[in-house]
Amino acid sequence: MRRKLAAGNWKMNGLGADLAELERLAAAPAPAQTGRLICPPATLISRATLIAGDIAIGGQDCHAAQSGAHTGDISAEMLADCGASAVIVGHSERRADHGETDATIAAKAKAAWDEGLLAVICIGESLAQRDAGETLDLIAAQLAGSLPDNATGANTVVAYEPIWAIGTGLVPTLEQIAQAHDFIRETLTARFGGEGHAFRLLYGGSVKPDNAADIFSVANVDGALVGGASLKADDFQAIIDALDAA
Ligand code: PGA
Repeated sequence: MRRKLAAGNWKMNGLGADLAELERLAAAPAPAQTGRLICPPATLISRATLIAGDIAIGGQDCHAAQSGAHTGDISAEMLADCGASAVIVGHSERRADHGETDATIAAKAKAAWDEGLLAVICIGESLAQRDAGETLDLIAAQLAGSLPDNATGANTVVAYEPIWAIGTGLVPTLEQIAQAHDFIRETLTARFGGEGHAFRLLYGGSVKPDNAADIFSVANVDGALVGGASLKADDFQAIIDALDAA
């Protein structure tokens, strides 16, 4: 059985005062079947870990190198040193804003594992790619390029996030989500054998309290990576509750 995961990505949002939202989440009873992860901006990680209780805290990116002349970047070791236990790599906003390639992302995932961090590796197609019928080919290529060979269900979570659904309020149909997640599962089992069943597959893109239960009813959806709706404790808690009940 894969343990479900509700992951929140605060992106470039959150000042010290916003840790009150995390404090409220941490005060709620721990869900029975669902792990919780919040990835605040790097500036808040240390403080977040002090109040998070059994909510895991993660980074939103790490550099592939352990240290060195990389102004403004953060290493996986630094995240671990702050108390983080996970890191998102290859988010589409990083791929777009910082020109990250699948090879860069695979190197970051390895750097994360070297420090004992869970790597949340993001993949997903643009609207143009979907319209051109390229979604599954793109997913296959991103999985092949972004997941190193020694990925396991214990060190890696895969987040499927169609770019056109991120922050837009647009959500794929349940059939489209099922098709992508089933394909990801098949691709992982073809490559990793039985271990392919151990990877948690998160859906991401405009997950909200009012669509969460439907999305979590889809096979091979083991949780969500949530942006906007993770910023408010009430919204994220509703999503956690829907996932735990699914
Ligand atoms: P969203 O973002 O929930 O605001 O659409 C999801 C993500 O980018 O991880």
